[in-house]
Amino acid sequence: MPSEPNVPTNPVPRSVPTNPVLEELPSYFTQTLNDALERGSLVDFSVGDPHEPTPGFIRQALVDALTPQSSYPSAAGQPALRRAVAEWVARRHGVSVDPDTQVLATAGSKEAIFHLPLAVVDPGGMRRRVLWGEPGYPIYDRGTRFAGGLSDPVTLRAEDGWRLELGDLGPDRLQGASIAWVNYPHNPTGAAVDLDYYRQQVAVAREHGLLLASDECYQEIWFDQPAPSVLEACDGDLTGVIAVVSLSKRSGMTGYRSGALIGDAALLARLRRLRVTTGSGSPDFVQAAATAAWGDQGHVDERRSVFGAKRAVLLAFFEQTGIEVSGSDATFFLWFRAPGGDDAAYGQALIDAGILATPGRSFGPGGTGWMRLALVPTVEACRAAVERWQAAIADGRLPV
Ligand SMILES: Cc1ncc(COP(=O)(O)O)c(C=O)c1O
Repeated sequence: MPSEPNVPTNPVPRSVPTNPVLEELPSYFTQTLNDALERGSLVDFSVGDPHEPTPGFIRQALVDALTPQSSYPSAAGQPALRRAVAEWVARRHGVSVDPDTQVLATAGSKEAIFHLPLAVVDPGGMRRRVLWGEPGYPIYDRGTRFAGGLSDPVTLRAEDGWRLELGDLGPDRLQGASIAWVNYPHNPTGAAVDLDYYRQQVAVAREHGLLLASDECYQEIWFDQPAPSVLEACDGDLTGVIAVVSLSKRSGMTGYRSGALIGDAALLARLRRLRVTTGSGSPDFVQAAATAAWGDQGHVDERRSVFGAKRAVLLAFFEQTGIEVSGSDATFFLWFRAPGGDDAAYGQALIDAGILATPGRSFGPGGTGWMRLALVPTVEACRAAVERWQAAIADGRLPV
């Protein structure tokens, strides 16, 4: 009998190596939220992606810019877009910036925040740390770790108005860091700061040779007084300072992906070089829509008043029930203490009552005991949620 031909057997499949940073990423409350959403009929205050339509003139600008031929977008952003951003900075903040050297277009602020440490952090150096406040937006941490830096979260507290005060950290911690992220108006607490706050942080950052990176993506969602920018606190010298801005919240353009970095020209020159490699420029038709959006302030004021109306409904309810609200000066988030003290348990009880909110611990351990509401549902849906909430309190399903 001829022997069986020597057929090579397939090697046993092995999984490819994994970046340990990816494996370490915490899984957020998202799965629980998704499971709850699948059950339907919930009023959803969980994700910060409001449903108000993008203004018609912005959509039209995108359509008008669709060309028969498609080309790669420029990494730095179209000159017209950078000019529109510079003009907005001048109008809104009274600061003059050079659109050629002090503005860089980005595909929203998330990727800009994620990529920034790649241009700043030396993974083998003495200043590997990146400071950021927690509870907070998780991308400061993730961008740092994927860039080989050390994430150094600073716990924020209600009694400090959820402010990250660099001056309280001590020289060793400051001099071991290359970037300090601040984010006001703040996600998740909605806390706002004044110009003096920025002046102090700029002074500390400069004294210790840190980049002060200010995530200002909620800057246009204010209620009592316009939120200032770090750019106003620099007396015309933007060295060592960068502001990250976005059209997502300002203009209802989360799906378009457009924002900008504004500040230190030397750093932006480095980022330009980096961003040629990352390939993260927005398509040209999005950049045209973004140019139109930065040029108009009326739609921003209208959006602000819509969020103001939703906010008033919920704040009146909190006041009437005695639920403690903290921060919540600006942004479309409301931040309140979980009655009973356990945010995860309260989040679950709220789901059972037909309302979806995010337990504060999803934004870091410093958020434990707190809850975040994103004012995403319509005003009518906010009223319906309040009725459900009141009914669940009345029959003892929710503590107060
Ligand atoms: C604090 C903060 N920064 C940045 C972003 C990213 O926004 P975008 O990438 O849409 O500009 C978000 C999104 O929710 C955020 O909450």
